[in-house]
Amino acid sequence: MGYLKFDVKGTKQFVSDNELEEIQPTISMADLELRKHTGAGSDFTDWLDLPKNYDRSEFNRIKKAAEKIKSDSDVLITIGIGGSYLGARAVIESLQDSFIQLKDKREFPLVLFAGNSLSGQYLHELLQILDNKDFSINVISKSGTTTEPAIAFRIFKNLLETRYGKEEAKKRIYVTTDSSRGALKQVADSEGYEEFVVPDGVGGRFSVLTAVGLLPIATAGIDIDALMEGAFNAYKDYQDSNIENNDAYLYAALRNILYRKGKNIELLENYEPNLMYFAEWWKQLMGESEGKNQKGIYPSSANLSTDLHSLGQYIQEGRRNLMETVIRIVNPKYDVDIPKVGNDLDQLGYLEGKSLNYVNQKASEAVRLAHNDGNVPVMIIDLPKEDAYSVGYLIYFFELAVAISGYVNGVNPFNQPGVEDYKVNMFKLLGKPGY
Ligand code: PA5
Repeated sequence: MGYLKFDVKGTKQFVSDNELEEIQPTISMADLELRKHTGAGSDFTDWLDLPKNYDRSEFNRIKKAAEKIKSDSDVLITIGIGGSYLGARAVIESLQDSFIQLKDKREFPLVLFAGNSLSGQYLHELLQILDNKDFSINVISKSGTTTEPAIAFRIFKNLLETRYGKEEAKKRIYVTTDSSRGALKQVADSEGYEEFVVPDGVGGRFSVLTAVGLLPIATAGIDIDALMEGAFNAYKDYQDSNIENNDAYLYAALRNILYRKGKNIELLENYEPNLMYFAEWWKQLMGESEGKNQKGIYPSSANLSTDLHSLGQYIQEGRRNLMETVIRIVNPKYDVDIPKVGNDLDQLGYLEGKSLNYVNQKASEAVRLAHNDGNVPVMIIDLPKEDAYSVGYLIYFFELAVAISGYVNGVNPFNQPGVEDYKVNMFKLLGKPGY
């Protein structure tokens, strides 16, 4: 069922078949609310049909803009925060070479990120490396008023205009924002920048498959047709409301059953270091969608086997409030064999002729058994490959799962009222007029 394999063997000792049967009516109700757009936050559910109903003409403009950036820029500075950058970064880091920044020759521009913190040091260092590089900017903000990207945009726009003059700078600025509202929209209109739209019915954390994610992703040389095709096939595969036929819904069901049993922290784990930012995207998707009304699973992550040597002790024997969701890549793009040497001084003779991926696979099996023994439920997502199609598929899997999961837990998965609270205090401290 579906392109990815969802392996729930590691939940069997924690969740009975009866419990799954009992939660099915609630899942079916959540499915109805979501699909009929009658549930809480239904104004922000347009991501649901996005893989089928996206704006084809804007999609082609995105590809053209990516070509233009490739032709005149060594670097694309992608300015945005939260849902306006994490998706792009997750996809790019999952799919491009881990050492792209050190390559002497690159086929595509380097995509670097700004406006996702207020660190002067980070920005200073980024500005330094642009000294001898041609660059363009993609500034992304749905509201058009978020402080972090607004400050970064002012700084990079200034640099572009000083370096290239106002007219040429204009051709290097790409704005992704609301179709009609916000300060950024006004700036873009008045300056005549090329504009892309964050659709009205798609919230930040669900926006990676819109221009928000697609322009930086395409600029990095990733096949956005394949990304959308993967999402579209997930869209088709996960239509059935029966958890026996829908792994995204089964995942939502299991998380909720486990949460009610006190497993209130979920770790998203991987065995490929390039999935680290995928977990950052997932944490926002899960945390911002479910963490409200003083409830929700706290989303965290671990990179394995690396973190078995740091967090491993806690996972095995610490407080028993954890569950794990593991992403494994069944056929990684590359592999390295462990060489035969003439002696066994390093005591690795038993691994001679085996490959790293083989050892990694065995490590993941050993970890599942150990963690199950340590009373941690483990769900495993086996993704056939790590390519654009597979990542698109996985994105949709998680978006759909969190929507159902949020409804099952009685929250509106599509708002984020708590994100505003710190801003009021910060604006007061900074003396912003009106605060
Ligand atoms: O998911 C969300 O809605 C948020 O994380 C936003 O994406 C984030 O706060 C940035 O907002 P904006 O795109 O309006 O600058």
